[in-house]
Amino acid sequence: MCGIVAATATRNIGGDLIRMLRCLDYRGYDSAGISTFSGGNAIEVRKKQGPLAGLEEVLGESPIDGHAGIGHTRWATHGVPSDENAHPHLSEDCGVSIVHNGIIENYRELITEIEAAGIKRVSETDTEVLVHTISLFLAKNGDATAQQIVWYLSQKIRGAFAIVIQRANKPEEIIGMRYQCPMNFVSLSGIAAISSDISSLIEYSRDIEVLKDGQAVAITPNGHAVFDFNGTPSESVKVHADWPIDKVAKDGFDHFLRKEISQEPEALRALVKSARSSADELHAFIAAQDIKKVIFLACGSAAFAGTLGSFYARHKKLPIDVLSEIGSEFRYLPPYVDDKTLMVAVSQSGETADSIGAIEHAKSQGARVLSFVNVVGSTIDRLCDMSVRLAAGPEVAVPSSKAVINQFMATTLVVELLADNSEASFDAWEKGCLALADTIENIIAREDEIADFAAKIAGHQSSFALGRGLDFASALEMALKLKETAYLHCEPMFAGEFKHGSLSLVEYGMPIFCFLGDPAVRHKSITAIEEIKARGAHPFIFDAQDRDDPDVAALGHYFNAANLGPPYSSVAHLTVAHLLSYHAGLLRNTDVDRPRNLAKSVTVE
Ligand code: AGP
Repeated sequence: MCGIVAATATRNIGGDLIRMLRCLDYRGYDSAGISTFSGGNAIEVRKKQGPLAGLEEVLGESPIDGHAGIGHTRWATHGVPSDENAHPHLSEDCGVSIVHNGIIENYRELITEIEAAGIKRVSETDTEVLVHTISLFLAKNGDATAQQIVWYLSQKIRGAFAIVIQRANKPEEIIGMRYQCPMNFVSLSGIAAISSDISSLIEYSRDIEVLKDGQAVAITPNGHAVFDFNGTPSESVKVHADWPIDKVAKDGFDHFLRKEISQEPEALRALVKSARSSADELHAFIAAQDIKKVIFLACGSAAFAGTLGSFYARHKKLPIDVLSEIGSEFRYLPPYVDDKTLMVAVSQSGETADSIGAIEHAKSQGARVLSFVNVVGSTIDRLCDMSVRLAAGPEVAVPSSKAVINQFMATTLVVELLADNSEASFDAWEKGCLALADTIENIIAREDEIADFAAKIAGHQSSFALGRGLDFASALEMALKLKETAYLHCEPMFAGEFKHGSLSLVEYGMPIFCFLGDPAVRHKSITAIEEIKARGAHPFIFDAQDRDDPDVAALGHYFNAANLGPPYSSVAHLTVAHLLSYHAGLLRNTDVDRPRNLAKSVTVE
């Protein structure tokens, strides 16, 4: 996801733009840039492929500054990472500068128009087309208001976007408009700022204004105006950002990912507190609806939490359908949804476009939506009928860790309350989570054993992760984490399915990760381990017994976490998966905090 920042003040703001971009550094990006107005009738830009440090070097050699400016960290969608494709993009007369997050779906139509006007693009981006489109409009409407510019653009473009515009003929005013991509602002005396990420604004104020879809804002050092795309004044959403902003600190760890894995126990305890503070509302929310179907909805690792929830519902023998759906499919091929459907949306960022689209569809069909979100004030946090904080704290590493543990336990809480919407049920879940937090601490203390496993698998480009029942979700997370953190291909598979074809891929020495957290199917999974062992594979077995099981330990590399019972033991194994993929990534010298090609929040389809 790209990062957008802007500021306008009664003083120079060049340093503000860089500081704000540094708060977005964790997201993963491939280039960065700023533009400022420092007088005259032209806006100046400095931009550079690569990390923010590269842009700072450019600024050191050739500084720009001014009382108003915009900035951007780019995660390429249209056009390769390059200096030319970096944002901001300027109009030919340098009278307009623009940054953009999202995708303009009809940018080819707009290319035809600007080329007909004799404009030659200098980049491959859809964003540059926007700046020329605005510039052509302003050439005929030089004194256009912010509302007129927003209205004109909203009629011209289709897609998901957060756009920030600065113009030389009204430099102190910066315009921001959003549709399906986040945009927030603060407006104080003498300074106002816009950002796609609340963390960039907290240095100015913790009272943040969040734009809703179809809204725009015009900021100046003396105030702001929020309005709909049609120009009608409207209200943004006020959010108080009360979380610590320790994001930029690794606190002595080599990587954010390792720091955040170490925070898994405290994050889980914080989820318990957060859920407890919403307990009455949760009980009432679940009791209020005649629920005939539940749909867990998410993407990526968050979707695996839904998989666990759907299987745990079977384990609890819920007399209703409980599905686990991923956002990108659901929004275009949804199951039947009506007012007897409860959707449970799970998201760390709260800005995942595929999940947002699916939630909006479900709501249009009458479903009620409960969400568990880590980022307060995010789109999903605001879109749903009820939202509970995952409370994992700021998560910087792109591979999600502490938030995933909380996502998994959030879905099991919903299942517990669907099965028995009582205080006793809530108390049992809370007790299980607290025991799980202690077990995770013990697993982290055994990190060296897991690092040894990593050394054994780091050279194997292909592996499998096997699970049955409640363990399948752990296998899914194991596989994804090895791919995204260590760039090792690992295929998740139902253990019972392995013999129906994929067993043919097993070669001597192939690592196969086997999860034995679900007691109901443990004996069956052991059979699968024996099958693969007989064919020369190297099983890595994650067990959950009161004492090590020598017969199972003899089948391969063995790691026995505590026997917490379902579903807690299966979730405890996630910490093993996180540490294993972290150490494998270190051995393979990957960027474990910002893996290639990935972004922390995928706000485009
Ligand atoms: C997690 O390690 C992944 N980076 C990714 O799959 C993530 O879980 C997914 O993109 C969903 O993100 P969200 O939780 O912010 O919605």
